[in-house]
Amino acid sequence: MKQVDLTADKQMAMLADRYSQRADAYDGLWSPIIRPVGERLIAHLPLSSTTKYVIDIGTGAGALLPAIERSAPSAVIVGVDRSQGMLRLAKKKHSTPLALMDVQKLALPANRFEVAVVAFVLFHLPFPERCLAEVNRVLQPGGAVGTVTWGSENEPLASATWDEELQEAGAQVIGLPAVDNRTCCDSSQKMTTLLEQADFVTIKVWTESIEHRWRSEDHFDYQVRMNSRLRLQSLDVEDREACLRRVRDRLSDADDEHYVYRGEVFMATAFKADPRVGNQ
Ligand SMILES: C[S@@+](CC[C@H](N)C(=O)[O-])C[C@H]1O[C@@H](n2cnc3c(N)ncnc32)[C@H](O)[C@@H]1O
Repeated sequence: MKQVDLTADKQMAMLADRYSQRADAYDGLWSPIIRPVGERLIAHLPLSSTTKYVIDIGTGAGALLPAIERSAPSAVIVGVDRSQGMLRLAKKKHSTPLALMDVQKLALPANRFEVAVVAFVLFHLPFPERCLAEVNRVLQPGGAVGTVTWGSENEPLASATWDEELQEAGAQVIGLPAVDNRTCCDSSQKMTTLLEQADFVTIKVWTESIEHRWRSEDHFDYQVRMNSRLRLQSLDVEDREACLRRVRDRLSDADDEHYVYRGEVFMATAFKADPRVGNQ
């Protein structure tokens, strides 16, 4: 991956643009794989008693909004994200208030929300601690936050074939290390420290596993439209077609085991201290 010296702000803007370009593919092909994890996190949050405001931080295409709505039927649910394209898709499907915003600097009043969901977002931030400090600011005393971040992942063998062929073809993509920041939050200890530093209390962190067996044609589609999209675009038409042919050839007799994805996530819940009940 080509490394270019870009400011963190520029990398955030490029990430938002990448999400916008791939919004449909994300929503159709990747979101169904990770959404159950976000839904399980939601089940751990005190949403049933929530009657006012809930916020979905980095809501993307709004994949978790239906589950939040089901759990907190009397609350107003607000979604924020930095990608226009993801929000556009969310707006097509949901009538909840949605706003374009950097989650490290929330243009929202303090002490407003009862629950905040931060699913698959913190590792995209140059300063995840700023996001959690902002979440703490906008939560009411005693309000709850739930987070999900990535641990280790084992990509399917078929993905390695894509990587090899793209490299062989000379495909390039500009790396965005400031917003591909998985090491910020890939352990229980790191998540506990981040939440403590943002003044959260009663922190619980646990790990869960995801396994997904791709259908070969869905995996191909996912690579073309999402994961390998930029690298394919960096090739001229002829090289791109040749690369796709080679991938198809090499994977033509690949068995189901080539399409198994396994990932580990860290889930956390925590609360904003409430001086009235002395939990600080
Ligand atoms: C992996 S998606 C997760 C979306 C959703 N939470 C879900 O679980 O499906 C990450 C989302 O974070 C958003 N994001 C990344 N950096 C952001 C930032 N600085 N401010 C707001 N949103 C951001 C992206 O635009 C993207 O929609």
